[in-house]
Amino acid sequence: MSTSLKTLRATLASVLQFAPLETNAVKRRLRRIAGVSDFRKVAKRRLPGGVFDYIDGGAEDERTLAANSEAFERVTFRPRVLRGVGDIDVSGRVLGQPMAIPFVMAPTGFTRIADPQGELAVARAAQRANIPYTLSTLGTRSIEEVRTGAPDARLWFQVYAWRDRELVADMVRRAAACKYEAIVLTVDTAVFGRRERDLRRGFSLPPTIGPGTLIDGVLHPEWTWSFLRSEPIRFANVVGAGVGDGSSPVDLAGYINSQFEPSLSWCDVEWLRSLWSGPIIVKGIQTVADAEIAADAGVEAIALSNHGGRQLDGAPAIFDLVAPVADAVGGRIEIICDGGIRRGSDIVKAMAAGATACMGGRAYLYALAAAGEAGVDQLLAIWHEDIRRTLALLGVSSIAELDNDVLGPPRTNS
Ligand SMILES: Cc1cc2nc3c(=O)[nH]c(=O)nc-3n(C[C@H](O)[C@H](O)[C@H](O)COP(=O)(O)O)c2cc1C
Repeated sequence: MSTSLKTLRATLASVLQFAPLETNAVKRRLRRIAGVSDFRKVAKRRLPGGVFDYIDGGAEDERTLAANSEAFERVTFRPRVLRGVGDIDVSGRVLGQPMAIPFVMAPTGFTRIADPQGELAVARAAQRANIPYTLSTLGTRSIEEVRTGAPDARLWFQVYAWRDRELVADMVRRAAACKYEAIVLTVDTAVFGRRERDLRRGFSLPPTIGPGTLIDGVLHPEWTWSFLRSEPIRFANVVGAGVGDGSSPVDLAGYINSQFEPSLSWCDVEWLRSLWSGPIIVKGIQTVADAEIAADAGVEAIALSNHGGRQLDGAPAIFDLVAPVADAVGGRIEIICDGGIRRGSDIVKAMAAGATACMGGRAYLYALAAAGEAGVDQLLAIWHEDIRRTLALLGVSSIAELDNDVLGPPRTNS
């Protein structure tokens, strides 16, 4: 062999590095996913349009939905250097208990439309990652199923105020019997937000396959096949309760407006206290004034939340509320920042601004739709690493040490 041929062979051998062929399709897909925007892209490709829009969409012009993420994008950091960051602690605490990273899986109704395992997959991933999981009242797996599926998880149960109060009382008793840790009372849904993407598509829960959606279904055969093969989707927590369990298609706005109690008031928080001796978290606080009332009412925590921009369009971006609310009530009540979190560095920003912990929904739903339970595992692993790296680059050794000194002036568009 000529010298030049030998040199060429040696050069090629040193530059050509073929990764072993991955035969598992999910693992192959996950290799190409680096963050939430990738999960979202894959979810969009895999889900029928109506299902993707139900998850991805917000109310009206989606200004609040966009503002939630934009508020994080505007934040700048003030990194400090030469601070010995060889040993970093990314763990957090919520309701006085430790968690691997300061993030809680938010309640999302109808999770099984993203993946047949639905809530079970997310709860199991949360258990493995050692963070709490919140089951929605409108979950498609029951209180009992989720406890059996994730026996060691920190589970929270989210309630809406149904007109049928005995139904709520019964669900709270079931959550206590299954050793759920906390009740999350969602208070931003006095009436249902106007989700225009769902209206345009005539979206119902569970999704129907009819003339309007047939082509969408055919174009997403994997989702359609697994949807048709799985046990029917329904509101698993209210089966048999006489309020309709969603086993025949409902338009969600009509269902919620007929079933939920619009006259809910702070007195109902006292009523909930009479039923439940554990921690109560009021989710959907959007002003300092209401945060103060919640602190006076003696609940353990509030979730600053606008329902991911799905209720009142024009409501404030959640990150912008964290610092003023922490100034007003931070010493008296735990503050959870819920909405717009798409990176581990967003969690760091919220914690630096004064949050006790963060919460989020869409990020894990995109991951679940993109790659099932393994997708949720990968999302949490990415965030774990994001937080460690962000702290190291900020010159901070632990979440507990974060304060607003690490935050610079907000970036402006000009
Ligand atoms: C598809 C979907 C369903 C939701 N269902 C519920 C629910 O049943 N109960 C509730 O309190 N919040 C619900 N939320 C709101 C989330 O709990 C959370 O507040 C929101 O997702 C946070 O914003 P993020 O998606 O930007 O993280 C839902 C959100 C989404 C995207």
